Amino acid sequence: MIAAVEGKGRRVGITGVGVQVPEKVLTNADLERMVETSDEWIVERTGIRERRIAADDEAASDLAIPAARQALERAGVDAADLDLVLVATSTPDMLFPSTGAIVADAIGARNAAGYDTLAACSGFLYGLSQAFGLVSGGVAENALVVGTETLSKIVNWNDRGTCILFGDGAGAAVIEPVADGGFIGFELGVDATYGLDLCLPAGGSRHPTSAETVQNELHWVQMNGREVFRVATRLMVSSANDLLAAVGATIDDVDLYVAHQANQRIIDHAARNLGLPQEKVFLNIDRYGNTSAASIPLGLADALDEGRLRPGMRVLMSAVGGGVTWGSAYMTWSGERG
Ligand code: UT7
Repeated sequence: MIAAVEGKGRRVGITGVGVQVPEKVLTNADLERMVETSDEWIVERTGIRERRIAADDEAASDLAIPAARQALERAGVDAADLDLVLVATSTPDMLFPSTGAIVADAIGARNAAGYDTLAACSGFLYGLSQAFGLVSGGVAENALVVGTETLSKIVNWNDRGTCILFGDGAGAAVIEPVADGGFIGFELGVDATYGLDLCLPAGGSRHPTSAETVQNELHWVQMNGREVFRVATRLMVSSANDLLAAVGATIDDVDLYVAHQANQRIIDHAARNLGLPQEKVFLNIDRYGNTSAASIPLGLADALDEGRLRPGMRVLMSAVGGGVTWGSAYMTWSGERG
């Protein structure tokens, strides 16, 4: 799916961003004591130095709720006035009720619809496009999109190929009509050919939870890292190029590239092949690792805090993840309401 949206329907942008990460920091040195790895290998192969890990009693909604409240406060929107709460996550509190329902209730969004969307690392961009469509078309007046993950709960801590990569966190964005700027286009896709290269096999209807699935370790993330890496590098570039072409922009129009922080080598490869100079590339993977659906809103929030994202700037966001799903969004930053 590809759409140039500027000038069609209402102009819609992001008016507030919020984040929450768990207190516990897990460093590469900590991981050296858990699996056969080294700080040097992890930094060189991924760019990650540390990641946040949720407490035993901390679920995806516990991170999403404070992130949502902060985004609403920054946008100056009352939770009771929200029309939609959309949570993107691969680690919901439970399958149902949805984490969207739990978050909507906790923040007091009593007039909103609430649900989850599962598109793995592309989830936040999928969620943004859904929210955009509803607000732009006038079905909803506003929306809250949250990416929240507690991947530490589904990672096999004995598997060095995956446990060094993932981290926990949440980021939220308020979507509203704006006077200037806003979304320019979206490109989203899926290709299940590579689906099983990154999956969590059991616990669904294909392999319901049983003593056998637990014994066979089918409740942990399974990843063919090399294959996912290969596919991700290709799709990060093609998705962004296709979107820019569809909206009549070139890479020189982009002021800031906030990519899904999956692996610094994937981002470096994409930036190089897209023709983006280093100063336009936002990176925070060193602090958080790969936080899947939370990664892009965490990036937007850090870019704002660091003064690297200002009104009028053109922002390109791209992600590739489980499914395999991918997506890109292009927008002019319209600024937080405050
Ligand atoms: O969020 C979206 C989805 N996920 C991704 O985008 C992740 C994509 N994949 C990756 O980021 C990378 O494939 C990894 C970081 C997971 C792995 O890096 P790699 O450079 O692809 O390593 P590899 O799997 O090709 O393994 C290279 C070597 C192997 O040793 P041999 O067979 O060459 O002797 C591995 O056994 O590195 C070894 N290795 C490790 N060594 C130290 C694998 N993991 C580790 C480790 N520490 N943690």
